[in-house]
Formats: sequence, structure tokens, C-alpha cells
Amino acid sequence: MTLEGTVAVVTGAASGIGRASAARLAEDGADVAIVDLNTDGLEGTRALVEAHGRRCLAVQVDLLDRQSISAGFGEIERGLGPVDILHNNAGGPARGKTRTFPNATTDQWDEVLALNLRSVADCTREVIGGMKERRNGRIITTSSEQAFKGGRGFTDYSAAKAGVLGFTRSLALEMAPYGVTVNAVCPGVIRTGLTDNMPDEYIQGTLSSIPMGRMGEPEEIAHAVAFFASPGAGYVTGSYLLVAGGRTLH
Ligand SMILES: NC(=O)c1ccc[n+]([C@@H]2O[C@H](COP(=O)([O-])OP(=O)(O)OC[C@H]3O[C@@H](n4cnc5c(N)ncnc54)[C@H](O)[C@@H]3O)[C@@H](O)[C@H]2O)c1
Repeated sequence: MTLEGTVAVVTGAASGIGRASAARLAEDGADVAIVDLNTDGLEGTRALVEAHGRRCLAVQVDLLDRQSISAGFGEIERGLGPVDILHNNAGGPARGKTRTFPNATTDQWDEVLALNLRSVADCTREVIGGMKERRNGRIITTSSEQAFKGGRGFTDYSAAKAGVLGFTRSLALEMAPYGVTVNAVCPGVIRTGLTDNMPDEYIQGTLSSIPMGRMGEPEEIAHAVAFFASPGAGYVTGSYLLVAGGRTLH
């Protein structure tokens, strides 16, 4: 119970990695605010958090809308108190419409960058002042193996996820004197709704490119998040942890 007495926020917590992260932070002792557009999914996550005997606040937020983010974080502070841990998890490629660069529209680029990068800055902005003042806090961002390797049809997503790493390092530098750490998890191919909808032949091709021969599980990313959130990781900042079964090694 290393996180007893802390308040964590997880964005994109209605499914996949965000749901596993919320459940794990609760297991480790945190009260957890769960943020997403999908309220039905949030109820499933709430049950997991509450099963660990922790307080849970489910807040519907559109992460593409700054006002919705501000209102959501206001509700969280009023409901659970100041935020100690923020896992900026929500994101993803342009679902079902990834296109090679010559065919990608600027609207699609704007949307992918807004969800994967700008929303990370917007959510962080809501909590960073308080963390700095209290000289305590953990910001955990979600990048991707795509920040390190290319992917056809993923120019927008790779650029956004590389941007997340730049944001993470620079903010870590700014916050280091205040004891606030900023780190990134970089998932490889993880079994979530994102991968469930991929065609079988794509999945088979993907599996053959993973040295460990299998996809990762959301709980394996949650474990990395829990490490960055833990008191023992207080001297770790500006780092990233690749959890990708060795996929970026060749
Ligand atoms: N699954 C993978 O293989 C993989 C690999 C690398 C990185 N990632 C990253 O991990 C994170 C989680 O991915 P996942 O696989 O769990 O995906 P997921 O689709 O299961 O979860 C994403 C969540 O974000 C929410 N969301 C999307 N747009 C939103 C918006 N505008 N406002 C509020 N909520 C919104 C969705 O409702 C969903 O619950 C993402 O940042 C993704 O880019 C995933």
C-alpha cells in the first residue's frame, strides 16, 4: 500500500491501459479519479477501483476541449482533493483511418496531435501549479514504441508520441528543483480495444515482429506506471520505460 493517502488521476480510463492503470494505482493504495468520454466504460473501471476499497470519482471529459478539461479537474479537486499523481494515458492513432502521409489531411493531423500531445499539456497544466507549490507530485505520460521506430500510416501518431517524450524531458528539468518527477511509459503492442479491431493478417505480421512472440497486457504497462508513481522512484525523472517485448531492438 505504498500510495496510501494519495490522489491519482488517470485519463482515458474507460478501457485498455488506462483501466489497468487505475486499478493498479488503487491496488497500491491511491484514491483514483478516472477520466474519459465513455461513461459506460468508466463504470466498469470504477468497480475495479472500488474493489480495492479506494474512493473513485468518474468524470466525463472531452480531452479535445480545454474547457471540458478545466471543468473536469475542478470537479476532481473538489471531490477528492489535490492531485498527487497524473497518468496522462488517453491517446491513439486516427482510428480506422490511418493514412500514409501524402493522403493524410491536416484535419486528421490536428486531431491526432490534439489528443496525443496537446491534451497531455492541458491536463498537466491543471495540476502542475499545485504540485510545484506542495513540492510533491508525479506526472506520468504515455508515449509509444512509435516514438522510436517508424510506422507506415503513422506519421502523425509517431510525431505526437515523440513530442510527448520531448515534453516529458523538458518538464522534468523545470520541475526537478521542486521534487516533482515527470516520466514516460512507452508501450509496444498491447492487447486492448485498439488491437482487438485489427485484421487477423495484420496481427500475425505484428506478432512475428515481436521478439517475445506475444502482445503485452495492459497490466504490464500499469506495472511501469506504478513504478514511476511509487515513493521509491523519487529520484527518477525525465526517463522513459519501454515495455515492448524487445520490438524496438531490431
Ligand atoms: N495498445 C497499444 O498497443 C498501445 C501501444 C503504444 C501506445 N499506446 C498508448 O496507450 C494509451 C492507451 O491506449 P489503449 O490501447 O489502452 O487504447 P484504448 O482505446 O483502449 O483507450 C483509450 C481511451 O481514451 C479515450 N478517449 C479517446 N478520445 C478521448 C477524448 N477526446 N476525451 C476523453 N477520452 C478519450 C477512449 O474513450 C478510451 O477509453 C494511448 O495513449 C495509446 O496511444 C497503446
